[in-house]
Amino acid sequence: GVTRHYKFDIRLQNVTRLCHTKSLVTVNGKFPGPRIIAREGDRLVVKVVNHVPNNITIHWHGIRQLQSGWFDGPSYITQCPIQTGQSFVYNFTIVGQRGTLFWHAHISWLRATVYGPLIILPKQNASYPFLKPYKEVPIIFGEWWNVDPEAVIKQALQTGAGPNVSDAYTINGLPGPLYNCSKKDTFRLKVKPGKTYLLRLINAALNDELFFSIANHSLTVVEADAIYVKPFTTNVLVITPGQTTNVLLKTKPHDPNATFFMLARPYFTGLGTFDNSTVAGILEYDNSTSAFNKRPHFKPALPALNATSFVMNFTRKFKSLATAKFPANVPQTVQKRFFFTVGLGSNPCPKNQTCQGPNNSSKFAASINNISFILPTTALLQAHFFGKSNGIYTTDFPSVPLQPFNYTGTPPNNTVVSNGTKAIVLPFNTSVEVVLQDTSILGAESHPLHLHGFNFYVVGQGFGNFNPNKDPANFNVVDPAERNTVGVPSGGWVAIRFLADNPGVWLMHCHFDVHLSWGLRMAWIVQDGKLPNQKLPPPPADLPKC
Ligand code: C2O
Repeated sequence: GVTRHYKFDIRLQNVTRLCHTKSLVTVNGKFPGPRIIAREGDRLVVKVVNHVPNNITIHWHGIRQLQSGWFDGPSYITQCPIQTGQSFVYNFTIVGQRGTLFWHAHISWLRATVYGPLIILPKQNASYPFLKPYKEVPIIFGEWWNVDPEAVIKQALQTGAGPNVSDAYTINGLPGPLYNCSKKDTFRLKVKPGKTYLLRLINAALNDELFFSIANHSLTVVEADAIYVKPFTTNVLVITPGQTTNVLLKTKPHDPNATFFMLARPYFTGLGTFDNSTVAGILEYDNSTSAFNKRPHFKPALPALNATSFVMNFTRKFKSLATAKFPANVPQTVQKRFFFTVGLGSNPCPKNQTCQGPNNSSKFAASINNISFILPTTALLQAHFFGKSNGIYTTDFPSVPLQPFNYTGTPPNNTVVSNGTKAIVLPFNTSVEVVLQDTSILGAESHPLHLHGFNFYVVGQGFGNFNPNKDPANFNVVDPAERNTVGVPSGGWVAIRFLADNPGVWLMHCHFDVHLSWGLRMAWIVQDGKLPNQKLPPPPADLPKC
């Protein structure tokens, strides 16, 4: 591999969408941020210089960071933030990975504007396990906010109420023609007839899972979260925040003399308000014989907003290739089992006060096993590495919920969470199984759970309460999907397995930033192994201080 140098200047830039001009926090003045393109085996060296008033960190979402956990990026987990006027050099090698990933800010809600594609091509002379596409096109979904998302989450955390929502979804930063004052800001994909295009889809939106479809064209899924999958064809995709999906688009053999909309809009089952709007892009054949306005325009049909069974069926279609060249290394035996409830709850309302949270609580909260994660004041990884955990974190994160109840029946009376900075310690190379159960406490809701530092295998999923006596018999340990983000089904559960072969401190969290902010996160501490290549090296000299 080669070493690729990038410079990320974090600076403010005026950007106009929907007739609103705003000063955005950006990388190099770009919205969305620049594309990073590398090959498997390359080293990436990215110097991040912070010129804005906000603190910032950058996360390389889905990069395993083998023995390079200092450069993972989540604030107060692997590093202290890069403060105004300071810089930090992220420096890591892409080992054994190729495909579509993305990078994003990992502090507060800054990733609303600070994100971009991270594309890893196969090694020189290595080919895809599918026909070489004519062209490759990154399609990154995001949001546009007429207000400052940083102010939105700040206010929501102060009042305890649910946050305001975005004003538009975007494709490559463009909301498209279905919004007011947005026609000229439309993503247009010009194609030639009779060719195959590889679309690299990335959901970088803060808080919404999305359905996606292109009128009159089916899509063949070939990769998810930078892992090849057994190809399958579909008209509609579901993609959660944090997930990436590569699809092949075969264009019509001859110019159809028509124009085709591509649409994305949310899948949502939770309570409260959400951005229920639709982003449109346009697929057009570039040698069309008639003028754009004279051609018929087709729109795809998308499932209902709360089409939970559709989502479950779609998720089940993902299978690893499981070939000699691309094996599925599913742990066949499990050394540590965990049962985690994930969901929303609340903090108590102080006596004699009226509060704005759910059921007159002081605040919305979110938790895993009823622990709502509180960010420490210094980075967990530093505290762990230098053996100074005292007063920073404890290692008593519960392996099962403290009060089990019927998760899909009547919610328990007590929805109050406990707060804490708790982690689970895993010896090097532990094989782990985690069942993630939606609690449905404040309504059933899907949670896209993301694990840093590892890919995991999705060995099982279902609706209702997980049954430890029955469900494991149906686990797929042969060719399950390997991913870094999976939706915990609304009113259901999902089971994952991974091998803890990467020393460091690794965050696991809901990739809805609102739930992340409310505490739906926890940390795994993976100890060093015995061999030199199983140890986390010391931190880089320029690691920011808190
Ligand atoms: Cu894409 Cu912890 O994040």
